[in-house]
Amino acid sequence: MNLYVHIPFCPKICPYCSFYKEASDRNKTQAFLDAVLKEAALIPFQPQTVFFGGGTPTALSSKQLEYLICGLQARLDFSQVREWTVEMNPATVSLEKARLLLGLGVTRISMGIQSWDVELLQTLGRVHTAVQAEHSYDILREAGFSNINLDLMFGIPGQTIRQWEDSLRKTIALHPEHVSAYCLTYEEDTEYFLRLGKGIYRQDPENEIALFEITMTLLEKGGYQQYEISNYARPGKECRHNLAYWNGADYIGLGPSAFSTMGPSRWSNFASTSQYIQQISEGKDAASFREILSPEIRQSERIAFGLRTHRGVPSAWISRHQKKVDEFLKLGLLEMEEQTVRLSRPGRLLADSVAAELL
Ligand SMILES: C[S@@+](CC[C@H](N)C(=O)[O-])C[C@H]1O[C@@H](n2cnc3c(N)ncnc32)[C@H](O)[C@@H]1O
Ligand code: SF4
Repeated sequence: MNLYVHIPFCPKICPYCSFYKEASDRNKTQAFLDAVLKEAALIPFQPQTVFFGGGTPTALSSKQLEYLICGLQARLDFSQVREWTVEMNPATVSLEKARLLLGLGVTRISMGIQSWDVELLQTLGRVHTAVQAEHSYDILREAGFSNINLDLMFGIPGQTIRQWEDSLRKTIALHPEHVSAYCLTYEEDTEYFLRLGKGIYRQDPENEIALFEITMTLLEKGGYQQYEISNYARPGKECRHNLAYWNGADYIGLGPSAFSTMGPSRWSNFASTSQYIQQISEGKDAASFREILSPEIRQSERIAFGLRTHRGVPSAWISRHQKKVDEFLKLGLLEMEEQTVRLSRPGRLLADSVAAELL
């Protein structure tokens, strides 16, 4: 069993981001923390991994983080936790906060760098500078964190190959244990999506493929294994929480917009902090959506996620698409080893299209 906690506050809203979040609101924070603790008490369980995501969990003050963490530990049994990640934005890191988190049991930090390029950070509307991001990384090391992920994005409007190579090289030089490199997606209901619609931005799939190839090459050379399409880790530093999720393990999500899956049941909470707080405080259901997943849907999800990882999937799972599998093997988009099928390196460039044919 795995635990996800969604903290919906951010120091500043980025124009490309579609995660459920809002600008930090002092008047709501305490009620939000109490609602999460009340929700946690409803389903007692022993998490093996914990992930605080968002939004920006460290938009909370040290006191608020302590209140939340101690409250969760009083309600849930944390004795089996083997990995505990907290997402951070470089603008919300302090030595005091980092030491507090480490002392309370957090084992892993995931920090959103996105780019080390001064101009591109402005294009992205980030609240931090590159200098501040590096300083925050140093603070995390100084506090004693030995498992750090850095998030990067490629395909940013105006980004050149050179700029991306520089960002990758700078990242590798810092020796984080894990790197997530995402291709920027123009998500509906974002400022970026509007700009794309107006023709201010333009997508360039060929450039995205070139940037993705460079990502794989440089990070592999730097000692990272690509264990999922967008995720690279030093040996033994794969994110256990995400692996559990991709393997179809059960997880409980607390907080607004959080998803949960337990056996065949899936539900998601109201994607509104105010409504989430209201539902919980009135003793009502925090979920706005519930469904029972058929065995076929669960299996399709396991195939889709499995194909994106380096483990691949047992060939028996996709044998009903044998003709397509043979075709992709011949084209060199899939590889087969001991009855396991996985995406080849060229196949990873076309991951979504290949997976779509095999579900
Ligand atoms: C929820 S954010 C957490 C980190 C923290 N809030 C921050 O931004 O520093 C997780 C990551 O998702 C990625 N992300 C957000 N919006 C994206 C988009 N439209 N396309 C691709 N990646 C995106 C970013 O790399 C970001 O660091
Ligand atoms: S990218 Fe991170 S900081 Fe920016 S709006 Fe999204 S969650 Fe908040």
